[in-house]
Amino acid sequence: MHLKVVLTLGVILVCDAKLPRLRQHIEPNHLPSNFAQNSQTARPPQIEIKSLKTSRIVDQYKVRHRRDVFDSKSYESSLIWAHSERLDDNGDVLLRWVNSDSSITFRLEARTRGYVGLGFNSARNMRGADLVVAWVDDRNGNAQVLDCHGPEFDDLAVADEVQNYELISGYQNDTHTTVEFRRQLDTCDKQDFAIGEDTVQVLWALGPEGSDGELPKHVKSGSKPLRLLQPVAKPQVPLKSWDVRLNNLTIPNVMATLFWCKIFKAPDLPKKHHIVGYQPIIDSRPIKNNRLYEKDSSSPVHHMVLYECADDPDKQLWNEWADGDGFFGPNRPSQWATCVTPIAAWAIGSKGEYLPENVGITLGEKGGVSYYMLEVHYDNQALHEVLDSSGIKVYYTPVLRAHDAALLGAGVGVSALHLIPPKQRQYRTVGICSPECTENTMPTHGINIVSVLLHAHGTARKIALKHVRGTQELPIISEENSYDARYQQSRVVPGGRKFVKGDTLITECTYDSTSRDKPILGGYSASQEMCLSFILYYPRTELAGCYSMTPVKEFFETFGVKEFYGLTMLQVENIFLSSGSLENLPPQLETDMQLKYSEETVMQGDDQGVGLMKELVIREPAEFRNKSFMAHLNEMPWSETLLTEQIEKTLYKGMHMTFCKKRDDTWGAPIQIQNYPTYNELKTNETAEKSCHQKSVRLPSVTNTNSSPAKTPSSLAAILAVCTAIIVAR
Ligand SMILES: *[C@@H]1O[C@H](CO)[C@@H](O)[C@H](O)[C@H]1NC(C)=O
Ligand SMILES: *[C@@H]1O[C@H](CO)[C@@H](O)[C@H](O)[C@H]1NC(C)=O
Ligand SMILES: *[C@@H]1O[C@H](CO)[C@@H](O)[C@H](O)[C@H]1NC(C)=O
Ligand SMILES: *[C@@H]1O[C@H](CO)[C@@H](O)[C@H](O)[C@H]1NC(C)=O
Repeated sequence: MHLKVVLTLGVILVCDAKLPRLRQHIEPNHLPSNFAQNSQTARPPQIEIKSLKTSRIVDQYKVRHRRDVFDSKSYESSLIWAHSERLDDNGDVLLRWVNSDSSITFRLEARTRGYVGLGFNSARNMRGADLVVAWVDDRNGNAQVLDCHGPEFDDLAVADEVQNYELISGYQNDTHTTVEFRRQLDTCDKQDFAIGEDTVQVLWALGPEGSDGELPKHVKSGSKPLRLLQPVAKPQVPLKSWDVRLNNLTIPNVMATLFWCKIFKAPDLPKKHHIVGYQPIIDSRPIKNNRLYEKDSSSPVHHMVLYECADDPDKQLWNEWADGDGFFGPNRPSQWATCVTPIAAWAIGSKGEYLPENVGITLGEKGGVSYYMLEVHYDNQALHEVLDSSGIKVYYTPVLRAHDAALLGAGVGVSALHLIPPKQRQYRTVGICSPECTENTMPTHGINIVSVLLHAHGTARKIALKHVRGTQELPIISEENSYDARYQQSRVVPGGRKFVKGDTLITECTYDSTSRDKPILGGYSASQEMCLSFILYYPRTELAGCYSMTPVKEFFETFGVKEFYGLTMLQVENIFLSSGSLENLPPQLETDMQLKYSEETVMQGDDQGVGLMKELVIREPAEFRNKSFMAHLNEMPWSETLLTEQIEKTLYKGMHMTFCKKRDDTWGAPIQIQNYPTYNELKTNETAEKSCHQKSVRLPSVTNTNSSPAKTPSSLAAILAVCTAIIVAR
């Protein structure tokens, strides 16, 4: 029965799929959001408000639609594509797109003469996904797009009841199929995915040769996380560049996690310039059997951060460091601790960033900062030996922008005290930037937040940066509800955000640890977790970092532990405050621990106290006596929701130890232990945000189907083919 309905609906769709190109009367920037919709229906008001960008796109469409006959041979797109991405590693599937306030136009170039499928979903598979399939008919050269969706429990493509994709053009040559089509961002159709600010899994699939008008199983498929609306495009002006990269560093095949730090001297510039963006330079050449190979796509570089160093009078020493090869993270000279202001933060999956047009980060100002530290994190789980010259290409310009911007780090202090229990579907942790800190470090008129990079690792699913003023929460500054650690890009805050002295910042992360059976501890390794926001703002202040973590005593008490052998809670706290270094330990324990600790710590790099968790042996209470804290953690009954809910609540709404770090590595406010702030939570006004209520999607009724002239036996056969499965999921 159900199948029959799908098939009959398909009849209209296959016929209609050709229509949009012939319908010259459709206004360029208005999608036929619903074929059944009466043309008299009032247009949704949102479409009336056309931005400059929108009208530019409209103009471009007018040019395109003037042609009555579409000549595929001379096909040359007149659209300016704001973005382009290779969806696969080989470059066989290239997606370009440009969006207006309400619609988005795609150009898909794929190495196939069969069909090409594109999909949008919050998961990396086609279950419940929005799918669109396009092909060019080999017989007559006509292109078609078909709006489909994946059923909830099947890896199939089924034609949608309403077609929301409009074909603009399409052609094929000996090797490729190229199609351009567009849709509304939010089609208000339950079978389509609403394209918004969150990260979306873009699915693709290529059909076999000659698979036009029928959809046998694809021959190749994949997925890539992307954000379609936000990334700032590269400025269309000449830019200078500065390569900040390592010089032929050999990455040994014995360390799964390695941090490497190196100092760089700023380019010699006679006047102030603005840094306006950067791109990663990934240059990793595998070494196998003492032979050096050409660089390939597998690189152990996981993330890189370029920090600005506070100015130091001892130029000679810093110049020597700038000429040197750098240091293994934990062994870096203590003076480098002043390199705390992030300038560029790249993580795997990002192609780089450009700053919004009104801001730039100062470079080469007279008397300004002259040294920078590049930190490269290698995630070498496969233990390959690699010759690495990776780094960051910094783009800068003498044409100054309106404001000098700076980056501020906020969130949960990176340490083993940031614990995520296993088997949790939605476990939340939180980092606070205290009102005392912003009171002491912000200028009288406050700062303007421009964009935010939200950062966590593999188990994070949501990250939100919240804003509290006094006892009232203000709208969320930035949030990602489909976080994917494989794709990280800054998010512009629309219209910016005014942040004043005494306001509080709260970074909240939500993790899905259902795939893990041991607790995840905070740390820099890709298998550990983080919860950070890098906030781009202006004007520049002295504040560089503003974090919090659970106070040590409260942390251990939450897990039922009162006392350890050999170390008081205060001593344990000191170890964490000095980032897991051992300098505060009593001498006996120190040598003892260094022996056991060293192998693992050195293997793991700076471990932020994870090793310490294994070394701490419980004395009180008696029921856990003589167990290491780690063993105790591993044995806790994590599937008991009452327990984990209580832990989440205690750590989230309980005490927080706050840190407020200035650029010169001094404190902007004393370290404090404080309660979670009390404030009125923001009421989410879902109905107000939804713009769909103006349009109701009318489904084609059975009577419509009956009146369709296309319902002949031969077209039914074609539909049967159209509705056959394609499997996009890997
Ligand atoms: C076929 O089209 C693709 C995509 O537009 C293009 O990259 C390729 O160069 C074309 N090949 C030929 C032989 O024209
Ligand atoms: C690394 O060494 C190779 C020779 O093995 C050399 O060609 C290359 O320029 C070096 N890379 C850098 C960044 O100096
Ligand atoms: C714990 O270990 C200490 C020595 O480290 C030992 O004296 C004591 O008997 C042990 N207690 C238990 C309950 O095993
Ligand atoms: C929620 O939306 C409604 C309708 O748009 C509006 O009247 C109301 O003031 C909003 N409430 C809040 C708390 O913003």
